Amino acid sequence: MVAKKPRVVIIGAGMAGLTAANKLYTSSSSNDMFELCVVEGGTRIGGRINTSEFGGDRIEMGATWIHGIGGSPVHKIAQETHSLESEQPWECMDGFLDEPKTIAEGGFELTPSLVESISTLFKSLMDYAQGTRIERKESSEEVNFYKLADKTCKICPRNGGGPEKLSIGSFLRKALNSYWDSVKEQEQIEGCDNWSRKLIEEAIFAMHENIQRTYTSAGDLLTLDFAAESEYRMFPGDEITIAKGYLSVIESLASVLPHGLIQLDRKVARIEWQPEAHQSNGHGCADRPVRIHFCDGSIMLADHVIVTVSLGVLKAGIGPDSGMFNPPLPTFKTEAISRLGFGVVNKLFLQLSSRHDGRDDDYSRFPFLQMAFHRPDSEWRHKKIPWWMRRTASLSPIYKNSGVLLSWFAGKEALELETLSDEEIIDGVSTTISSFLSQPRKQMSSNSHEVSNGKEKSLGSVGESRVKFTKVLKSKWGNDPLFLGSYSYVAVGSSGDDLDALAEPLPSTDTLESAGSPPLQILFAGEATHRTHYSTTHGAYFSGLREASRLLQHYRRAGV
Ligand SMILES: Cc1cc2nc3c(=O)[nH]c(=O)nc-3n(C[C@H](O)[C@H](O)[C@H](O)COP(=O)(O)OP(=O)(O)OC[C@H]3O[C@@H](n4cnc5c(N)ncnc54)[C@H](O)[C@@H]3O)c2cc1C
Ligand SMILES: *[C@@H]1O[C@H](CO)[C@@H](O)[C@H](O)[C@H]1NC(C)=O
Ligand SMILES: *[C@@H]1O[C@H](CO)[C@@H](O)[C@H](O)[C@H]1NC(C)=O
Repeated sequence: MVAKKPRVVIIGAGMAGLTAANKLYTSSSSNDMFELCVVEGGTRIGGRINTSEFGGDRIEMGATWIHGIGGSPVHKIAQETHSLESEQPWECMDGFLDEPKTIAEGGFELTPSLVESISTLFKSLMDYAQGTRIERKESSEEVNFYKLADKTCKICPRNGGGPEKLSIGSFLRKALNSYWDSVKEQEQIEGCDNWSRKLIEEAIFAMHENIQRTYTSAGDLLTLDFAAESEYRMFPGDEITIAKGYLSVIESLASVLPHGLIQLDRKVARIEWQPEAHQSNGHGCADRPVRIHFCDGSIMLADHVIVTVSLGVLKAGIGPDSGMFNPPLPTFKTEAISRLGFGVVNKLFLQLSSRHDGRDDDYSRFPFLQMAFHRPDSEWRHKKIPWWMRRTASLSPIYKNSGVLLSWFAGKEALELETLSDEEIIDGVSTTISSFLSQPRKQMSSNSHEVSNGKEKSLGSVGESRVKFTKVLKSKWGNDPLFLGSYSYVAVGSSGDDLDALAEPLPSTDTLESAGSPPLQILFAGEATHRTHYSTTHGAYFSGLREASRLLQHYRRAGV
């Protein structure tokens, strides 16, 4: 009898799954080493990469940025496939995002110097937490902030010296309080009686916290672990978006695979495996140890499965009434899955209606608006602004002069967004914008002499009447059963070790029971399995490579 080729089934056609398939298929000696297939529960490839179209523009519903081009494999593919240039404008294409207008609720424009002092404080604190301060050139002002951060850290030692683990959220607030203690006088800013200097500074600080919530997907920064933050790695260089769409990278990876290798609309319901040696699966096909049950009732046998589903799907899969794995995953796995954080981040796109006089530059004056809100419990807050808008940091055209605006949402606000009707969203956003843009705008600066009361700063159409929108599009990562969230973070109570635990193949080779059972039955890839690049597309990419290499090595060692 001719020896059967090992069958590898990859679950999920996102970045991790397709990278693994690409690697296994193209690795020279392996081209026909495996029987390979990718099964995807959805009707498209890409997973959390979902390039779409809105108002005539190409937009990203999921992954948007290449987080640092230096050394990024995603950047390399995008470059090789000429995906970084396009005739058409694309989302976030120009340096326009470098010139935000920061406005406080009620319509007070904040001068750059006032915003900058708090932004610098915030950035220094995050640099400190991420452990990048050594590499940065420090201005004398920043050095002070570092001292502040150091002081704050002594209150709560970096490596969790006490029983209470430090979160990024509590670190930031402690540092803000230390900053206020160190600033002598709290002068009142004239001309904006509802805003004291301290309140304004807090609002700018909170705006940065909200940006951080969308970066990390931690809906509440009090749940984001402080110690783990310094393990996260960023690539150096610019952060850019992909002109031809993020999907072009996915398509490039898939393009080498033969037709039919990727099967769409094949949702896996259950994975049966054999952690113990000499155990028959009772179906008379003991030679392939893994049995995959699909939602449509069909079954596939495999020697190895690479599971790339999101951490959200894994969390649901180990729940009491799911049983995605049979027998259940070992405790070290389920505990890591439970402890790690998986948050919801959503993007909202809104199409501005063109102005009555139909000029070409209708939208040209809609700024990159950064919003400094009153505290949610403040008596000064505008009661008509809905709660789910109050932690939105910005609203911005997707490129200069675009008629499409974009906002990012995190946490429960992001989940709420998924349930709202288009009308409710348009109404809530319009109400918010009018509190920031429609009044004759007063300027507020750090120096009270600079305050110019009631100084009109025209923003053209947006200044004169209520902004109108014709349609909206939002992502729905939280409720989509194929994702159940957006990306992972290290929650307080977990650590980088849990990310490593997630990456471990099963059955574990070091337990007595598993000795002799077929090795590498279930492998795990996906963004949440990468200790230093989790939450990103390149983290997913590296994880796919890692698991493909694990199998290749295994068979090369075995001399096949
Ligand atoms: C709003 C948003 C913005 C983001 N922004 C960025 C960014 O700017 N830069 C960046 O680097 N990253 C970003 N990310 C993160 C990035 O998209 C992900 O880290 C990466 O795409 C994850 O790839 P993956 O292969 O690990 O998982 P996925 O892409 O989730 O792939 C898993 C696949 O498994 C499928 N699946 C799930 N369950 C089953 C089942 N039961 N049976 C069969 N198939 C199943 C899913 O449909 C999916 O296609 C963002 C994500 C979101 C949601
Ligand atoms: C804020 O101050 C203005 C006066 O400058 C006042 O009219 C208004 O009622 C105050 N409260 C709110 C919620 O704007
Ligand atoms: C992916 O994009 C399409 C629009 O092209 C949208 O209908 C779908 O909801 C998106 N998926 C998620 C999970 O947001």
